[in-house]
Amino acid sequence: MKIIYIMSQIKNLADLRREYIQPEFNKKVAHKDPIQQFEKWFEEITKVGVEDANAMTLATSSPDGTPSARIVLLKGVEEGNFVFFTNYQSDKGGDMDKNPKVCLNFYWPQLSRQVKINGIAERIEESKSVVYFQSRPRESQIGAWASPQSAPIADRKILEQRFEEMTEKFKSRENIDKPKQWGGYAVVPYSIEFWQGRPNRLHDRLLYVLDENNHWKIQRLAP
Ligand SMILES: Cc1cc2nc3c(=O)[nH]c(=O)nc-3n(C[C@H](O)[C@H](O)[C@H](O)COP(=O)(O)O)c2cc1C
Repeated sequence: MKIIYIMSQIKNLADLRREYIQPEFNKKVAHKDPIQQFEKWFEEITKVGVEDANAMTLATSSPDGTPSARIVLLKGVEEGNFVFFTNYQSDKGGDMDKNPKVCLNFYWPQLSRQVKINGIAERIEESKSVVYFQSRPRESQIGAWASPQSAPIADRKILEQRFEEMTEKFKSRENIDKPKQWGGYAVVPYSIEFWQGRPNRLHDRLLYVLDENNHWKIQRLAP
């Protein structure tokens, strides 16, 4: 019975398909610099008005090669690097301490686009993390103090209790200090692929790779 149920689900999934009708994306229209190309596509998806256009999958791997992927929010592109914030003591932080090679992935279905970025994650300067932390809503700042991100906790009550304790602790303080373990990473890219959905599954894929002279080279990949 169970197998029949699963098969019927798969059949339904197999029927889930659509045509991609976007115009051609080729070397003529693509910017020579992938960061400018990213900014162009980002501006275009922002204009569509989707929620969480800056949500990206961050893939890391542990020293034994176990992959792990989760969503984080892109908070800026600074000097060509992709910046996000998190807890340095989280699982992802532990992965990146030992293996800073990461992959970022954006999927923007409204424009049939995907951007895949491979790069090296580096902690940003402490002073920059402080500036960003201070710009966050007070409740998010307290949340960062309250949550030992990725650690097992017995139940939600503990989290809420910690939130209350931190709220009390900081109640007389106008500014809440940034926890030491919280901060930003900048992903320094060495390859960026832009994928544009096209009719008949003949999608356009342009891969930018940094050569030995630090110049971006573009090549087309088969879809
Ligand atoms: C839309 C969305 C945005 C998120 N943004 C962040 C973020 O910017 N930073 C972060 O640490 N976690 C963010 N998270 C939570 C992460 O996906 C993840 O659960 C958390 O960071 C713990 O990951 P880890 O245990 O693999 O380190 C977000 C989740 C979602 C669904």
